[in-house]
Amino acid sequence: MKLSFFGTGYVGLVTGTCFADLGNEVICTDIDEEKIRSLNEGVIPIYEQGLREILERNAKNRRLFFTTNLKKAVTESDILFIAVGTPQKFNGQAEMKYVFNVAKTIAENMNSYKLVVVKSTVPVGTCEKIKRIIKENQKKKIAFDVVSNPEFLKEGTAIKDFQVPDRVVVGCDSKKAKKIIKTLYAPVVRMDKPLVFMDVKSSELTKYASNAMLATRISFMNELSHLSEAVGADIKQIAKGMGLDDRIGSRFLQAGVGYGGSCFPKDVRALAQIQESFGHTTNILRAVDYVNERQKRSIVPKLKKFLPNLDGKKIAIWGLAFKPKTDDVREAPALTVIEQLKDEFATISAYDPEAMHNTKRIISDINYVENSYDALKGADALILLTEWDEFRTPDFKKMKKLMKQRIIIDGRNIYNPKLLRKIGFKYLSVGRS
Ligand code: UDX
Repeated sequence: MKLSFFGTGYVGLVTGTCFADLGNEVICTDIDEEKIRSLNEGVIPIYEQGLREILERNAKNRRLFFTTNLKKAVTESDILFIAVGTPQKFNGQAEMKYVFNVAKTIAENMNSYKLVVVKSTVPVGTCEKIKRIIKENQKKKIAFDVVSNPEFLKEGTAIKDFQVPDRVVVGCDSKKAKKIIKTLYAPVVRMDKPLVFMDVKSSELTKYASNAMLATRISFMNELSHLSEAVGADIKQIAKGMGLDDRIGSRFLQAGVGYGGSCFPKDVRALAQIQESFGHTTNILRAVDYVNERQKRSIVPKLKKFLPNLDGKKIAIWGLAFKPKTDDVREAPALTVIEQLKDEFATISAYDPEAMHNTKRIISDINYVENSYDALKGADALILLTEWDEFRTPDFKKMKKLMKQRIIIDGRNIYNPKLLRKIGFKYLSVGRS
């Protein structure tokens, strides 16, 4: 099949590349000329495990193309994916102008039946609006359909999530579109991992609802972590005890430094904003967001239990990305923690295996080092903020020698408190006394 993607960001690039790998001919477009030029030269703008290999293979086999020529992308493909960003506006609403501009471009260049697939995370009613925009801007009347197909890819495991999805959700009100979608997704959906068809509005809401539910679980555990600490319990044990209940399940119950990334913070606020625009109250979602912001700010106070005055203290940071296996620092808790430390006049040495270049663009006035142990030289404390594998079993003896004071604040609960104290570290984690 012939596919075009509008928006070569995270979603467009990963999904487009994976569809090419299934034998489709895929054109990925973007209005950012620099990005397309880089991609054509083999420079991939994001770090995603496994992506480079698949992308290079399909580009070489001439199944995957990158261009800024939007007209060509519309005329030469039958299925047009809208995968542009919907960034958060100052009031929490999703910015829709990029999505609507693509709709207009599609309308103006349409030469035959097109199936428009909306992958961007969009408020309820957007697909209807896209239909209207296309109808109003068509030069002559040509049939088309618009379906909602939210993406559930997780950064770091996006390729696997595409190839073996938990489910594929499609909001669709046309028989023809349904048939095309069934053929398109046939290679990745199996009996127990279904392709779920529903009405368009329910599909649009399913994406927000899923992310908001996952974020709610995390904030619930983060809130509980404070009580757990106060009474001398262990939040990891509590999560284990809860998660073994089939009705609850074990995933997304890890207390920590708060969630970040390009989806959870933005989608929780956008869904709250949508609810409020319908005159509904949003007690849960606003609380989820509030608890998360508070959690990001709860790490430095822990450090201050050991070091009440941070002025001139050298603090090592391990982990900048909002989670492991990505170089993404959007809404990363590390950004908040670093700003707090800077406000207290601490000196910071930071290390992350993948995310330093992106952090440097936002925070330039701290010290970035090339390996984890370099960050510890002369440090008064270590704060761990991302649970990269390479941080899990470090050489504690070496760490003790390098550090000036033996203090560790573990924002992801990856170390054993008893062991660390036995070795001689002052140690605090999240929700564990
Ligand atoms: C999320 C959704 O999972 C995905 O379906 C959607 O398409 C995009 O948004 P992603 O942003 O890649 O994916 O990250 P995810 O793995 O969901 O983690 C989000 C945040 O929650 C991270 O900051 C992570 O550290 C945090 N988290 C996750 C916790 O704090 N505790 C947990 O138990 C799980």
